[in-house]
Amino acid sequence: MKIIGVKQPGGIENLAIIEKKDPIPEAGEIIVRWHATSLNYHDYLVAVGGIPVPDGRIPMSDGAGEIIAIGDGVDEWKIGDKVMSMFFPNWIEGKPTLKKTMFIMGETLDGCIAEQSCLPATAVTRIPDGYSYAEAATLPCAAVTAWRGLMVEGNFEAGDKVLIEGTGGMSIFALQLAKAAGAKIFATTSSPEKAERLKAMGVEEVVNYKEDERWGKTIFKLAGGGVDHVLDVGGGSTMRNSIEASAIGGHIASIGILSGGRKGEITFPKLFFKHLRMTGLAVGSREMQNKMVDAININGLKPIIDKRFGFDELGAAFQYQASGKHFGKIVLEY
Ligand SMILES: NC(=O)c1ccc[n+]([C@@H]2O[C@H](COP(=O)([O-])OP(=O)(O)OC[C@H]3O[C@@H](n4cnc5c(N)ncnc54)[C@H](OP(=O)(O)O)[C@@H]3O)[C@@H](O)[C@H]2O)c1
Repeated sequence: MKIIGVKQPGGIENLAIIEKKDPIPEAGEIIVRWHATSLNYHDYLVAVGGIPVPDGRIPMSDGAGEIIAIGDGVDEWKIGDKVMSMFFPNWIEGKPTLKKTMFIMGETLDGCIAEQSCLPATAVTRIPDGYSYAEAATLPCAAVTAWRGLMVEGNFEAGDKVLIEGTGGMSIFALQLAKAAGAKIFATTSSPEKAERLKAMGVEEVVNYKEDERWGKTIFKLAGGGVDHVLDVGGGSTMRNSIEASAIGGHIASIGILSGGRKGEITFPKLFFKHLRMTGLAVGSREMQNKMVDAININGLKPIIDKRFGFDELGAAFQYQASGKHFGKIVLEY
C-alpha cells in the first residue's frame, strides 16, 4: 500500500510517497481502507515542521473509508462498514485526561493519508447517513470542534447569537451547526467575496477584520449588546476583539492561533466584568463525535467542500490552503 510520510525537517517539498506492507489486524483491531482525507490547519503545521513529528510520520488527522478486515473479538463492525477517524482515538467518553488525549492521529500516531491503517476497533465512528467519503472526511477535526464549542461547552440554546471568525473549515461548520440549531450568526472575514457568501448562508452581519481593527466593538454593537458564543480562531491575534464582541455572560471557545496568535494580551477586567466563560478546547471525544453524527442525520447538514485533490497532490492542497483562498473544506480523494 501507499502512504505519504513527512520527511524531517518538514516542509511541503519533503512529503514523500512511500510503499509499505499491507497491515494485518490483531485481536480487537480493524483495517480501514481510507478513501478521503481533509485538510486542517493542524495538518498544515505537521507538514511544514511547525509541530515536530518523527521522520516518516503519516500526517492528516481526518479520514473516511471502509472496513476491509477485522481482528478477533470485534463485534461493533463488519466488513464494508463506512467509518471515519477520530482526532483522539483514545478519548472514548467523559472528561479529557492526558491518557485520553496524548495520542493524536497524524501527529503522535500515523494519520490517514495512507491507503490502509490498522486501528483499534474503537478508533473510528460511523459516518452520517448518505455521506460520501469526501464529505465524511471533513468532520472529525473541524466539525467536532465546532460542535463541542457550541453544544457541549457552550450550552447553546435556540435564539443565541454566535460569532464565527474567518471562513476556514472549523468556522463554516460552526456557522452551519449554529444555523441548524436556530442561532443568529455574525461573522468576520478578510474578503468581500467571502462576505457575500456568508450573507447568502444566512449570516446576519459580516465585518472585515482587516479593514476594521476594532471589529469586536463593531460586532458588539451590531448584535445589540454582544454575542452569546464566540469561536475564537486567532488566540493572541483575535482574543481581545472576541472578548469585546461578547455579551455579558457569554462563552468563548478558545480554538486556534491563526495569524501568529500563539501568545497575546487580554484586558482582564473585560473578562470578569462581563462574567465571561472561556473554554480552551481541542476537538472532542468519540461520544461527542457520535452525538454530532446523530444531529447531522436529523438536520441534514452537508459540508461545504471548496476544492478536491488526489492522493499525490497533498503538497498542492497544502499550498492552496496556505493561500487562504478556500471557503470551508479542502479534501483529497483516493
Ligand atoms: N482546538 C481545536 O480543536 C481545533 C480544531 C480545528 C481547528 N483549530 C484551529 O482553528 C483555526 C482554524 O482552523 P481551520 O482548520 O478551520 O483553518 P483553515 O481552514 O486553514 O482557516 C483559514 C481561514 O481562517 C481565517 N483567518 C485567518 N486569520 C484570521 C484572523 N486573524 N481572524 C479571523 N479569521 C482568520 C481566514 O478566513 P478569511 O479568508 O475569511 O479571512 C482563513 O481563510 C486554526 O488555528 C486551527 O489550528 C483548532
